[in-house]
Amino acid sequence: MTREGLTACIDAGAGAVVAKSVNESAAARRQLDIADYAFVSGDRQVRPAGSARRDDGLLNRSGLAQVDLDDWLGVLAAAVEHGAARRCPVIGSITLGDATAAARIGHAMAGVVPAVELNIGAPHGREARAVRQLTEADAVHDAVRLVRATVDVPLFVKLPGQASDVVALAHAARSAGADAVGLVGRYPGFLPDLDGGAVLGSWGAWGSPACLPMSLYWVSKARLALGADVPLIGTNGARTATDVLRFLASGARAVEVVTALWVEGPAVLAELVAGAGAYLAARDGGVDGFVGSALAGAREYADIPPARSPAWLPYLACGPESSGR
Ligand SMILES: Cc1cc2nc3c(=O)[nH]c(=O)nc-3n(C[C@H](O)[C@H](O)[C@H](O)COP(=O)(O)O)c2cc1C
Repeated sequence: MTREGLTACIDAGAGAVVAKSVNESAAARRQLDIADYAFVSGDRQVRPAGSARRDDGLLNRSGLAQVDLDDWLGVLAAAVEHGAARRCPVIGSITLGDATAAARIGHAMAGVVPAVELNIGAPHGREARAVRQLTEADAVHDAVRLVRATVDVPLFVKLPGQASDVVALAHAARSAGADAVGLVGRYPGFLPDLDGGAVLGSWGAWGSPACLPMSLYWVSKARLALGADVPLIGTNGARTATDVLRFLASGARAVEVVTALWVEGPAVLAELVAGAGAYLAARDGGVDGFVGSALAGAREYADIPPARSPAWLPYLACGPESSGR
């Protein structure tokens, strides 16, 4: 959200940096004043401030960067220049409020950044009137088409995981002109504290390492449906280099990381890039051969032959060694 933050991520070795989202709404900027973050352990304990761990879930309210668009374009331009010297593209981001306004902001951003990401899946959509979450293919198509028309640099569209058919949303984004598709955004969440209240005192946005397979589900399904020529960006749930590789194996060509960066600081980016890079360098076929490789080993249920000894058989055991039920 700041020039220093963007620069730190570039210097840490990120492949690319997506800047904080903006939109036209003053309410979305004001919302930052009520931002709050709760890191939640695997057994659902809220960690004291400052002791978050990388594997924690994160429940939060957040707002958008509190700067005017002109000032923000200045921050982006400086970061783009810093990144260019280090071969690290800096990408502008818009979170959808009004689509016509997003088109106007996208046009202005395209004057300073090499690509724009449009987030149409913000999990705060139901709580915050300043941002919208689109979950219907027609609505995605209409919004992306408006923004596409004014943005003359590559346009990435980030989708929510909260739709019955996220692949249909990916098709809609592509048919409206998205160059790449991001899958998937975080989820709405709620966590009672059992003292008559709720953590954060409100609903919030939720993500955790346990969300990873849910993200990979839609990345892999989109890869199958859209084909290898459509660049996919995986996001939501990556904490380690192995998680990054799982996104690639599912079909993503890039992976976005926020929570691990928040907890560990920019050094985690170097760790993830080096870890994934070392694995890929030691393997035949390079990155291209690895992206989507897990799909070769994944079948529809109907194509799986019955096992001679069904895997569920042990669950029926009730001899003297069992629980006796
Ligand atoms: C604190 C926080 C702020 C975020 N702000 C934005 C944002 O401004 N725009 C956006 O498109 N996504 C935003 N995201 C979502 C991330 O870009 C990304 O989709 C997701 O959080 C990545 O999952 P991870 O946190 O498990 O790495 C935010 C996520 C977090 C945790």
